[in-house]
Amino acid sequence: MLYSDKVMDHFMNPRNVGEIEDASATGTVGNAKCGDIMKVYLKIENDRIIDAKFKTFGCGSAIATSSMATEMIVGKTIDEALTLTNKAVAEALDGLPPIKMHCSLLAEQAVKAALKEYYENNGGIPDAKRVFFDVLQEDEHSV
Ligand code: FES
Repeated sequence: MLYSDKVMDHFMNPRNVGEIEDASATGTVGNAKCGDIMKVYLKIENDRIIDAKFKTFGCGSAIATSSMATEMIVGKTIDEALTLTNKAVAEALDGLPPIKMHCSLLAEQAVKAALKEYYENNGGIPDAKRVFFDVLQEDEHSV
């Protein structure tokens, strides 16, 4: 299995590892089949993500995609972060082997789970935004 230099870099030197003690929201997701678990912490101010951290107990691709996904959303507004997709994360890493695409979906789901919690703690999810959370129902291994 061939991994891109970027995947190897984010696996060997992951960015944003850790936790945020006073996080605005967290999202924890797991993959029932491989057993991998990912938790994302977000610090949000004025609807903008000012910090993101993660802890991943999982494969190298799960670590690399968590690292890249957190890098991609820091500085973004919530609306911008909602459009994050696992494909965009994989592309930013110069691709993943097809059998590893589900790992990138876990990263997208962890970010979306945290954003969902943020909305739920701040007045609820607006109807127009609900579609962005459909991904939380997807089976990671169907991708
Ligand atoms: S093998 Fe489970 S997330 Fe990668």
